[in-house]
Amino acid sequence: MAQPLFSPLSLGRYDLSHRIVMAPLTRMRAGEPGDVPHALNVKYYRQRATPGGLIIAEGSPISPSAKGMPATPGIYSPEQVQGWTAVTDAVHQAGALIFLQLWHVGRISHSSHQPHGALPVAPSAIAAAGSAYTATFERAPYETPHTLTVAEIAGVIDSYRAAARNALAAGFDGVEIHGANGYLIEQFLQSRTNTRTDAYGGSIENRVRFLLEVAQAVAEVYGPDRVGVRLSPFGVANDSGEAEPEHLYGFAIQGLAKLKLAYLHLIEPRASGAGQADVDHKNVPSASELFRPTWPRVLIAAGNYTPASANAAVSAGHADAIAFGRLFISNPDLPERIRKDAPLNSYNRATFYGGGAEGYTDYPRLGSSIAAE
Ligand code: FNR
Repeated sequence: MAQPLFSPLSLGRYDLSHRIVMAPLTRMRAGEPGDVPHALNVKYYRQRATPGGLIIAEGSPISPSAKGMPATPGIYSPEQVQGWTAVTDAVHQAGALIFLQLWHVGRISHSSHQPHGALPVAPSAIAAAGSAYTATFERAPYETPHTLTVAEIAGVIDSYRAAARNALAAGFDGVEIHGANGYLIEQFLQSRTNTRTDAYGGSIENRVRFLLEVAQAVAEVYGPDRVGVRLSPFGVANDSGEAEPEHLYGFAIQGLAKLKLAYLHLIEPRASGAGQADVDHKNVPSASELFRPTWPRVLIAAGNYTPASANAAVSAGHADAIAFGRLFISNPDLPERIRKDAPLNSYNRATFYGGGAEGYTDYPRLGSSIAAE
């Protein structure tokens, strides 16, 4: 039976030959010092590249202060641009497209990651519940962040612009703005983390302003048809969550639609933000179904999809493409396996974050018991 996931799709200025997208996945395996992509990362992405497929590379800090976890590969230094260039070259040789996810963690950081040991920054001085990963991979309670001034907000937007220029120089076909999972952009969006009384806080219009200014700045570098935005309207990751997200996110999505961006990427409520656990929230609407009428271009949905539910969502028109996270970690050849309805390797959560080749580049391809090349 024909699978809708294997019908072609135009995305911005590109043509995809199938609709199985690799979701952005932090793996904390950049080369040190300097958080530089290296040969192991090249191999991992090459393994997952398919002709006409789309990879969204892991969240990459846009500046030193945007970082919140060790060994996350950045996109602000010349060495990182060089390291990423080897990744994009390898993926392009395999015929795939690769976008980079631009990431600023805001308060979900720790002073040990910050330049000069400064406090992490955020829209308001409200500490997240829970604990941070320190620079030495230990856990420590989140600190109360420094409130960004309006001038500093302009500086952060400049960092997004510079990061987009670097991504372009590194050969990325486009960029995705990480507006999900409790990080800086979502901290601006949601009232629990944004108590500002200036132009960036208070009303929904004001809370959405930072997202739209970032999107505008990045679109000026890449052209809007090579930029996507990821949002998690019903997410609760990293101490996030808006009581009535429909109105806030509906407004944000309308604003993004006016910018004519290539795609919107929504995380479904049934997935925990970063996939650490299977969460089955009952009685919550599907984010893609709910916001589909508000978004006129390509909609990518993610979160606990199986091949069957992904085909069903595309068939019903709820989403145009489906991003897979954990299944792409454990199945380098995921599109081929789905096409053949073949069994899937299961993933090992213990090797999601940090380490080397184990649980990263050693998952076997179909019909082989050894790691993919
Ligand atoms: C993630 N996720 C994630 N999301 C994101 O926007 N940027 C990121 O860098 C990461 N990093 C990350 C690391 C790991 C190890 C996991 C498991 C998840 C979330 C991911 O993209 C996806 O939305 C979820 O995993 C849900 O999709 P699946 O795994 O159910 O297909």
